[in-house]
Amino acid sequence: MRNKKLLLIDAKGISKTYFTDGISTPVLKDVSFKIEKGEFIAITGPSGSGKSTLLHIIGFLDDQTKGIYCFDSKCLGDYTEDEIAEVRNSEMGFVFQAFNLLSRTSVLDNVKLPLLYSKIPEKEWENLAMSAIKEVGLEHRLDHTSSQLSGGEKQRVAIARALVSQPKVIFADEPTGNLDSKTGKKILKTLRDLNKKGHTIVLITHDQSIAKSADRIIHMIDGKIDSDKIIKKTKNESAISKSRPLSPKRDEVKKKRK
Ligand SMILES: Nc1ncnc2c1ncn2[C@@H]1O[C@H](COP(=O)(O)OP(=O)(O)OP(=O)(O)O)[C@@H](O)[C@H]1O
Ligand SMILES: [Mg+2]
Repeated sequence: MRNKKLLLIDAKGISKTYFTDGISTPVLKDVSFKIEKGEFIAITGPSGSGKSTLLHIIGFLDDQTKGIYCFDSKCLGDYTEDEIAEVRNSEMGFVFQAFNLLSRTSVLDNVKLPLLYSKIPEKEWENLAMSAIKEVGLEHRLDHTSSQLSGGEKQRVAIARALVSQPKVIFADEPTGNLDSKTGKKILKTLRDLNKKGHTIVLITHDQSIAKSADRIIHMIDGKIDSDKIIKKTKNESAISKSRPLSPKRDEVKKKRK
């Protein structure tokens, strides 16, 4: 029985169908699950199974077609547009595979960016940004622009930016997908350390060995939850270096990088 006070995410019968040019594409089909505060959860599944679509819905970046989605005991329909923006800015942090940093802007200013849209007073921005940057170990790169950083460093800036407003949950969509296994391992450790400090982490990955570092794995197939398992924490980072892609997409990405 889940403790109601700890419940952060409650998705009930979520379906999503895209309608484009008269064509309807059903993507999510009656997906239900709950996530408690403090969980570290991985969402896995083949390319096209609906992982990112689901993440967009639970991150208030998109609406479901059917079903009820509640975040922190309040359901989507009960939030005003302003409240949705506020929750997205202050209680959710996002990390994407493509970093989405401003390339000619310093690390410090990239990390400060979400605060511009928050209600946090400007005098606190510097301190918050500095502590998020310290969390990811990049305090020696404050004035570098993001174009002057390595891939792993860019991803750590993206994590710092996701952290800066001290969100309840961090949603990460393939944050290690563009990185070599050693750097991926560091990013995973950063996420795990954040989880130990109380942040809820929802991590999408194709990579089973990365997923095994989570406390729980939801596996999706064809828009449905195929399995939802609490797993034993391996805490074995060496497993990541042996990681194998489950989807051809990662191979394509690697080839493009070469
Ligand atoms: N705007 C859209 N219009 C129509 N179909 C879409 C749209 N966005 C996504 N889809 C389809 O929805 C399905 C699920 O996409 P989604 O991005 O959620 O998959 P995914 O599991 O994250 O895949 P990947 O591992 O490749 O990132 C895909 O088949 C995709 O083609
Ligand atoms: Mg995706």
